[in-house]
This record gives sequence, C-alpha cells and structure tokens, in this order.
Amino acid sequence: MKITIVGAGNVGGACASFIAAKDIVNKILLLDISKEKAMGKALDIWNSSQLLTNNTKVIGLGNNEYRKTKNSKICIITSGLIRNPGMTRDQLITKNAVIIKEVAKNLLKYSNKALFIIVSNPLDIMTYVAFKELNISRLKIFGMSGLLDTARYNSYIATALSCNPNNIQSMLIGEHGDTMMPLLRYTTISGIPIGELLSKSNLNFIIKKTKTTGGEILNLLKTSAWYAPGAAIANMVETIIKKSKNIITCSCYLTGEYGLNNVFLGVPVILGNNGIEKIIELQLNKEERKKMNTSSLKIKKMIAQFL
Ligand code: 2OP
Repeated sequence: MKITIVGAGNVGGACASFIAAKDIVNKILLLDISKEKAMGKALDIWNSSQLLTNNTKVIGLGNNEYRKTKNSKICIITSGLIRNPGMTRDQLITKNAVIIKEVAKNLLKYSNKALFIIVSNPLDIMTYVAFKELNISRLKIFGMSGLLDTARYNSYIATALSCNPNNIQSMLIGEHGDTMMPLLRYTTISGIPIGELLSKSNLNFIIKKTKTTGGEILNLLKTSAWYAPGAAIANMVETIIKKSKNIITCSCYLTGEYGLNNVFLGVPVILGNNGIEKIIELQLNKEERKKMNTSSLKIKKMIAQFL
C-alpha cells in the first residue's frame, strides 16, 4: 500500500517521517516542485528506517512525476505558501487556491479512489477549494485541523495540571483559525470535568493560547509549526490504514449537519478505512451554535471575497 504527500516542506517532511516510523504503509511518495528537496528528505527519512525499526520506503518525486503516485490509498496535500510572521492564514487564500487546484487535479488523475487529506492554509477554505475541484464524495476529502488544535489544547491542560496529556478527553470544533471552539463542556480529565480542576481564568488562558498557538510558533520560528501538524496527519493516516475507527475532529463538508451547508468546518467524525463513516452531531447549546454560525459565515464571506 502506498500513500502520496505533496509538498516536501517542513510539514510534508515531518508527516512523511512520522508516518514512516509507524511502519503502516509500504511506500511513501514525497512530491515537490523541487525534486531535489523531495529526494533529499526522502533519502534522509529512509536512512532512519533501521534506527526507527520500520520498512517504509520513502521516495522523492518532482512535479512532472505524478504518474508514479498511481493508485495511492491516501493523498495528502501540504503544498502552498506559508504564512510570514504577521500574516493571517486568510491572506494566503488566492495564491494557495491556484496551487491546491493544480495539485488536486494531478493527484486525482492517477488515484481516483484515494482519500484526500488537505493541510494547506487557510485550511477550511483550501479543503473546500480541493473538494470543488475534485468533485468526489464529501466522505473522501477532509482537512487536518481539529486533531492538531485538540492536541494543542490538551497539551496546555496537561501543563496547567502537571498531568499526562493522555488522561485528557476533549472536543474542539469549528474553524482552524481564530474562531475555533474548544468545548469546555466536553473536556474531562480521567472523567473529572475540567471546571472542577481549573479556575475560570486558567481556562480562559488555555483557550486563548490554543487559538493563538499557530501564530505564536510562526513568530518564534518565522515559519509555520511542523512537528504537531505532522504528528496529527500521521495519526489520521494510522486510523485510516489500521481501520481503528477513531473519533477525530476533521474539517468536513457539511450538508445540513449543525444547521450548516456548503462549508467545511471541524466536526467530530468516525474515520474509517474508506473515509468518513459518520459525522457526529454534538448537542450544541445556543451559544455554541451561534459560534459555529459565526465561523461558517466568516469562511463563506472569505470564499466570496477572494475566490
Ligand atoms: C498551524 O496551526 C500550520 O496552520 C498550522 O500551525
């Protein structure tokens, strides 16, 4: 079984190496407009195979070698321009839309049964762009966002409580951006409601930090984060390949769920071997529904304005 990752930047490289380390696919094709970059990273990752005890072949490809990606089980798109410090995810829209359409079209030509995971920013909009270009089932294309944002949220709760992040069960939905919604009502630590363990001001701090982490890392590194995004993509791939049917928040195309239509937003799904098996509709309260509507309106406005 093989998978393809387009974009051999920091995120593409990290996700290739995390997926390779899991030893769950035979081959990873890492494709980039710079073949040298893709080949260099692929070689480095393959060199680590014995050390990380896996047998995942990683091969670097150039832009004119899409035919070698034929019959990929999963296609991951990480390509596109990244944010410069001070830039919002939204400022990337027009430029990245052109890139994403081209990449998506090329991938579909050789892997028309593949699942598509979109990672390029602004995430919910780029997933929409790819979906419209591909014209495939909405169950086969989703954006990697919620898993990353939830992991960030959980890491801050673990820091505040000095506990193991794996003891935390939580839910974060909505946009991969400023209007994302960590849901305190759905957050427990080994079954204990979070409100019993942390003060309101602590919780507000955690929520704010979760929402701004992407920008914080951007300012520190002068480029986007890659370790946690790469790990989140690898977890999604593992869930799909191993048929573990984990409930994961992905950016999904909504057709009436949460009262929303024609928009990609982060919602919990059961992710199976053939894509989204079920979109789970949480019983949101009035305030939460209002926030989801705000996210949806924001995204739709941006699409109308820039695409
Ligand atoms: C982030 O949140 C890359 O958008 C990504 O760091």
